Amino acid sequence: MTIPRQPIAHRAPPKRAPRTRAPHVAPGPVSLEEVREEAQDCQACPLWANATQTVFGEGPEHARIMLVGEQPGDQEDRSGHPFVGPAGRLLDRALQEAGIERDMVYVTNAVKHFKWEPRGKRRMHKKPGEGEIAACHQWLERELQLVAPALVVAMGATAARALLGRATPIEANRGHLSAFAGEMQILVTVHPSYLLRVPDDARASAYARFVQDLKLAAPFAERFSDRNGNA
Ligand code: URA
Repeated sequence: MTIPRQPIAHRAPPKRAPRTRAPHVAPGPVSLEEVREEAQDCQACPLWANATQTVFGEGPEHARIMLVGEQPGDQEDRSGHPFVGPAGRLLDRALQEAGIERDMVYVTNAVKHFKWEPRGKRRMHKKPGEGEIAACHQWLERELQLVAPALVVAMGATAARALLGRATPIEANRGHLSAFAGEMQILVTVHPSYLLRVPDDARASAYARFVQDLKLAAPFAERFSDRNGNA
């Protein structure tokens, strides 16, 4: 796969010795922990060089619901955990209102390094490109294989593209479940960061629609251990 090289503004000195090729992902069944470990060294696209660390998915290994966002933001990049910044707090609130406990879902991103450009002293989010989404797909694929959720929630256009492999307009595709990759189902909805940017007068209704979408996921949110009939 040819990964387009993009100019990286404000390139920080590499924190690790550069590798010459993408890391090999073992084809056999390995644990999520092993894949997470391997992803820490990923240099399959140039984003690793300016990011603090790989931000891998988190949540129960056999969660029934997997939420997929775009890429870690500033706070996620610093902390190493997905959805812990402003978008994460909004997501937590919406999940709760939809009747879903966050600790029951597996939360991850289509792209696992923070893409940003400097603006003054701030690191401004930059949308990942198709090459970066494609380069990172190996990790999302392994997460899907190993977690094997019943429902995948694509939050925003980048997640929908990564999961469905094509540009997917959110408005036309949100709010219903569709069959996805064999036994799974997929729900497309907006990204929580979008709700932070909606003008004040439209924010409450946009948020209510997001919660409404998430309510479609609530029936999947039984305790992950219940899958085997255990408490
Ligand atoms: N936005 C995302 O898409 N993912 C995060 O982890 C945080 C913000």
